[in-house]
Amino acid sequence: MAETSNKQQEKMEAIIALAKRRGFVYQGSEIYGGLAGTWDYGPLGVMLKKNIENLWWKMFVSDREDMYGIDAAIIMNPSAWVASGHVAGFSDPLVEDLKTKKRYRADHLLEEAGIDTKGMSLEIMDATIKEKGLKSPDKNELGEVRQFNMMFTTNIGATQDAGSVTYLRPETAGGMFVNYKNVVDSFHPKLPFGLGQIGKAFRNEIAPRDFIFRVRELEQMEIEYFIRPDTWEEHFEHWRKEMWKFIEAIGLDKAKVHELEVADADRAHYSKRTIDFEYDYPFGRKELYGLAYRGDFDLKSHQEGSKVNLEYFDEEQKEKFLPHVIEPSFGVGRTMLAILAEAYTEDEMGGEARTYLKFAPNMAPIRVAVFPLLKNKPELVAKAREVYAMLKKQIGNVMFDDNGNIGKRYRRQDEIGTPYCVTIDFDTLGEEKPELKDTVTLRNRDTGAQERVAVNELVLRLK
Ligand code: GAP
Repeated sequence: MAETSNKQQEKMEAIIALAKRRGFVYQGSEIYGGLAGTWDYGPLGVMLKKNIENLWWKMFVSDREDMYGIDAAIIMNPSAWVASGHVAGFSDPLVEDLKTKKRYRADHLLEEAGIDTKGMSLEIMDATIKEKGLKSPDKNELGEVRQFNMMFTTNIGATQDAGSVTYLRPETAGGMFVNYKNVVDSFHPKLPFGLGQIGKAFRNEIAPRDFIFRVRELEQMEIEYFIRPDTWEEHFEHWRKEMWKFIEAIGLDKAKVHELEVADADRAHYSKRTIDFEYDYPFGRKELYGLAYRGDFDLKSHQEGSKVNLEYFDEEQKEKFLPHVIEPSFGVGRTMLAILAEAYTEDEMGGEARTYLKFAPNMAPIRVAVFPLLKNKPELVAKAREVYAMLKKQIGNVMFDDNGNIGKRYRRQDEIGTPYCVTIDFDTLGEEKPELKDTVTLRNRDTGAQERVAVNELVLRLK
């Protein structure tokens, strides 16, 4: 068990090192010593992130007739967060080391001591810490467990007083609830219909950790799906299946994803039912996505808070009511980490150890790399540039590389997960073997197998 966890830890360290070395993810503000809970996406990280987000948007917004896209402001009127219950209740259990004053998540300390905290109230956590005599990681006494609100505050405008305080949104959902009426008024959609949004959210996590798993500045892809109250079970089931389709579409191994029915005491304050989709990360089985039935909690709260009538008028039934909401919620960073962890592979090729990322082709930041066999032969370079330009136009995300020997170039592409490499050699020019003119070598990342393919068949082979 200990050996497995050491191996998994080494794997995480290797993934973090590769992510930095090859330009996927850098530590936030690194040259200033970093800023806990923030990470910056480098050129390849951005491409992977866009692949995730574009697929999500296509599957859940643009390919559906019942979905509307939204891009709401991150900073909202603070009354919205009072009404939504976040000001009063968006908190995690905090406990302080009485000597060092370092702060910890009480549930994390208990879990690390082998105690299951599912369904545990704040009081029971406090009592359990005392009863078991748990100490801080620095072996000091711990204080009382208390709630810590995770919303970041900021001041809006030129004055800095209590009246100017507002929050960075802790979930993208809020921007959709406050725009629900706008969309109804603009488009008159029939129920059921949904709003979808991709954007940043901010949580002042007590203990950010596990690379991009638990961060303070995160990105979410969320849907608020408005339904007739009596149909919630059917729509909950529909979205549960849709979430599995997305998990499959990004190439995750379904055997590593597990549904968890969240206990009453562990659900967010707005939820009547929640299923977490957990993933077997190298550091353990942890939440990847969430699916919640939010009832009419949000529309009702915003109706009361704003004094604006948010009822839906059903023309056919001649009936007014507040729709209920099913909310599938996806974290972008957690998706990326699951994809990276699953793709990370060490094997041996040609008698040499190699590390490569076995991305599903639709997630690979670079779809194909193009090389001239030699960089000092202008005719090879010119032909390679021509093939590169053609592929870039038709496939996108293509890389040109003429640096170093071919073997090294293959390894570099393997390491960033490029599924195919195309090499232009003298046969492509048809100098000695006219029958091979305009053919290239197509090399497969996973097997290393190479085959001769006509240039005009490449696009078909790569799509
Ligand atoms: N609107 C519902 C909501 O925000 P949540 O379970 O708190 O629910 C949804 O968050 C998803 O956002 C999670 O399943 C996870 O993918 C992602 N997420 C939440 N907190 C995060 C954090 N601190 N760092 C990275 N991702 C996070």
